[in-house]
Amino acid sequence: MAVERTFAMLKPGVLQRRLAGEILNRLERKGFNIIALKQKKLSMKLAEKHYAEHKGKDFYEPLLKYMTSSPVIMMILERENAIAALRNMAGPTNVDEAAPGTIRGDFGVITRRNLIHASDSTESAEREMNLFFTEDEIAPFEDGNEKWY
Ligand SMILES: Nc1ncnc2c1ncn2[C@@H]1O[C@H](COP(=O)(O)OP(=O)(O)O)[C@@H](O)[C@H]1O
Ligand SMILES: [Mg+2]
Repeated sequence: MAVERTFAMLKPGVLQRRLAGEILNRLERKGFNIIALKQKKLSMKLAEKHYAEHKGKDFYEPLLKYMTSSPVIMMILERENAIAALRNMAGPTNVDEAAPGTIRGDFGVITRRNLIHASDSTESAEREMNLFFTEDEIAPFEDGNEKWY
C-alpha cells in the first residue's frame, strides 16, 4: 500500500466544544503524520470553493454559514492508505449512522456539524491541499515508529 497525503478540516464546533486535542490525539495514535497544520476563520469565498460540488443542494447555504461562523483547524496528514483510513475514522456523513469509535459517531449530534471534513479521493485530496496550503507550509518528517506498527 502506498504512502498518501490527505486533507482534513476540523469544523467550527471542534474548537468551540474543546475537542481539538481529543481528535488530534486520535489521529496521531492511529499513525497519521501531521505534516501541515493551521487554524483560520474561513472566508465565505474559500468555503464556497471548498464545497463547490454541493452548490444548489438544500444543505449548502446553512453549511457555508456554519463553516464560516468560527475558526476551523486544517491539516495535511500522511500515512499509508491515508485517504480511506481517515474517511473510516471520521465515519459516515450522517451522525446517526456513524458507529461508536468513529469521530462522527462518538461526538456528532447534528449532521451539518459532523466535526470533521476528510478528502474523499486522491483528486479531492490534491485539490483541497492546494486550496488551503502552500508548498512551504508542508513539513513532512520521518516516522520513527514505522517498524513498530
Ligand atoms: N443531509 C444533510 N443535512 C445537513 N448537512 C449535510 C447533509 N449532507 C451533507 N451535509 C453537510 O455537508 C458536508 C459535505 O457533505 P458530503 O461531502 O456529502 O459529506 P462528507 O463530509 O462525509 O464528505 C457534510 O460533512 C455535512 O457537514
Ligand atoms: Mg464530501
